[in-house]
Amino acid sequence: MKIIHVAGARPNFMKIAPILKELSPHTDVTSLLVHTGQHYDPNMSDVFFTDLKLPRPDINLEVGSGSHAEQTAQVMLRFEPVIMQEKPDLVLVAGDVNSTLACSLVAAKLHIPIAHVEAGLRSFDNTMPEEINRVITDVLSDYLFTPSRYADENLLNQGVQKDKIFFVGNVMIDSLLGALEIARQRQTWKRWGYAPNEYAVLTLHRASNVDDMEKLSDLVGTVIEAANLLPVIFPIHPRTLRQLDAAGILLAMRNIPGLILTEPLGYLDFLCILGDARLALTDSGGIQAETTMLGVPCLTLRWNTEWPETVSQGTNHLVGTDREPILSEFQAILEAGNRPATRPEGWDGLAAHRIVEILRR
Ligand code: UD1
Repeated sequence: MKIIHVAGARPNFMKIAPILKELSPHTDVTSLLVHTGQHYDPNMSDVFFTDLKLPRPDINLEVGSGSHAEQTAQVMLRFEPVIMQEKPDLVLVAGDVNSTLACSLVAAKLHIPIAHVEAGLRSFDNTMPEEINRVITDVLSDYLFTPSRYADENLLNQGVQKDKIFFVGNVMIDSLLGALEIARQRQTWKRWGYAPNEYAVLTLHRASNVDDMEKLSDLVGTVIEAANLLPVIFPIHPRTLRQLDAAGILLAMRNIPGLILTEPLGYLDFLCILGDARLALTDSGGIQAETTMLGVPCLTLRWNTEWPETVSQGTNHLVGTDREPILSEFQAILEAGNRPATRPEGWDGLAAHRIVEILRR
């Protein structure tokens, strides 16, 4: 069996790594890793290969940035000849980025079966590009590997055949559990003179939060107020950095005491500061899941989530993007702490094992 694994952007790497590792002893399966090049900065891509011990990509499509249509089309144009030449038995895609959708479309039209890792997630918000990518990838896929029972339900409600849906648990948590101990030893927070629980972590990159300058500067204003209560470490995504610079607020932010601006961090350094944070503020999907697993309170700067179990069972609070609820929840967590988290079903470090069992069967 020959499988092409697709990875394109930062959130793909921690989902593909455990599957490749789990497959490596099986000599009856040939794995080819295709990097689309959607993310290309060393700290958005290369460092994840080192930290997660991923093999070098067999093929890099080097698509780079562009509008949604440009980026998706470039991945499709460059991925099609790879499929024609390699004739894989399966294309495995992960998550919800433009590369996921583009490669699924190419494979489907060439009648190559598709496995979607992290299938069935829904925010029910079609203004998110990720939601469009998820819905269409799921429709095209033959093996839908879900991280939660909510995801199974979403797929059934969408009319996906039951025998295509496989609840396997959360593969991102396989990476987290595999790396946590080494990550913790790094004590990355020392870089800024902090100790565990002495700071919060912020990440921000969703188009809905950073593309509109007014909304972005309002959010930054709120974060600056929060940083008066507890220092905030902010590894800045390249998209967000560009917007902050264009809005003319980056320089001023550099002079705010308690607001630590830094480059995007690698997997281990980020896991270290996240695991030891007093709380996190984020608009990322993955970090909502990771904080639940780590028992770190999380304020999600969005109105919806594709991970409802992180709210019902975990540490997540959906606070939206308005100043008042963000600051009052921030304050409440500092005073009272967070409710204890329970570990959602299948978030046990064995998701990749279950995926590989199903694929080989
Ligand atoms: C993408 C994914 C999003 C994921 C996020 C994680 C889509 C639609 N979005 O968003 O789901 O949560 O990655 O990071 O696929 N850039 C660089 N260097 C890089 C990569 C990007 O400078 O290595 C800049 C480029 O200017 C680019 C911009 O960031 O235009 C946005 O990158 P893009 O891949 O379009 O989307 P993300 O915002 O990163």
